[in-house]
Amino acid sequence: MNPILTLDQISFSYHSLDGETAALENINFQVMKGEFVAIVGPSGCGKSTLLSLICGLIEPESGTIRVDGASVGYMLQKDHLLEWRTVYDNVTLGLEIQHKLTPENKEKVLKMLKTYGLEHFKRSAPSELSGGMRQRAALIRTLALEPDILLLDEPFSALDYQTRLEVGDDIGSIIRNAGKTAILVTHDLSEAVSMGDRVIILSHRPGTIKKIMPITFEEKGLSPMQRRNTKEFHSYFNQIWKELKGDGEAVGSTSKVSAERETS
Ligand SMILES: Nc1ncnc2c1ncn2[C@@H]1O[C@H](COP(=O)(O)OP(=O)(O)OP(=O)(O)O)[C@@H](O)[C@H]1O
Ligand SMILES: [Mg+2]
Repeated sequence: MNPILTLDQISFSYHSLDGETAALENINFQVMKGEFVAIVGPSGCGKSTLLSLICGLIEPESGTIRVDGASVGYMLQKDHLLEWRTVYDNVTLGLEIQHKLTPENKEKVLKMLKTYGLEHFKRSAPSELSGGMRQRAALIRTLALEPDILLLDEPFSALDYQTRLEVGDDIGSIIRNAGKTAILVTHDLSEAVSMGDRVIILSHRPGTIKKIMPITFEEKGLSPMQRRNTKEFHSYFNQIWKELKGDGEAVGSTSKVSAERETS
């Protein structure tokens, strides 16, 4: 089977008046169709940059990226909801642009709004939503297009902890059952282990790949929630934690961010 996505020797730097910021260095990996890849790494190591490169928002400085005939959907770290459109008109924006606003797709969107507790807010403006609700709207907007490859940048970070577990479980199962390929960027190591087939661990900026860890469980077909209750889960968590900890100043920032998020 051919990979759906190949990154070959990717490096990228941002250039501004203040100078150059090296964001990523020599990134190589492949993703197979139907695979779920999680990416973890310290804040500022280039994770969002990597997703922007994959979806073609920015061009690599060197190296090549091949996407094998698949459509790519990108849920950005910032939600980018348009204030002058209602929630409904925001989540259907992509469908509208692609001329896919069929009765069937409208039905699908309404069902998702219901599932994510946004049904009563579909006529509201984005500013009337909480942070978590905005994030859910952005997620629906991305899922509505049913892209072959889903790029998710911290999609659950503004949700409270319980909702985060529930939505993670739900989305994880949906993506898997639909045979979609997904790349999830997260600060939450337990989220990475509960959802990923592989976890890519990046170093401090400029991000390089420290390790690619395959995640397998004795029992097959477990949901993210079920994975959390296995012995393998804790072992993977600790291995990734150790790998990140060997990264000097990165430790403090990573643990601080996740601690803040989990208590919020
Ligand atoms: N538009 C930009 N111009 C200049 N530098 C940038 C730009 N965007 C990001 N950077 C820098 O590139 C580096 C990587 O940024 P990126 O947003 O990819 O990190 P990240 O791993 O997603 O961080 P976080 O976990 O905090 O979201 C950072 O040092 C950042 O300051
Ligand atoms: Mg980011």
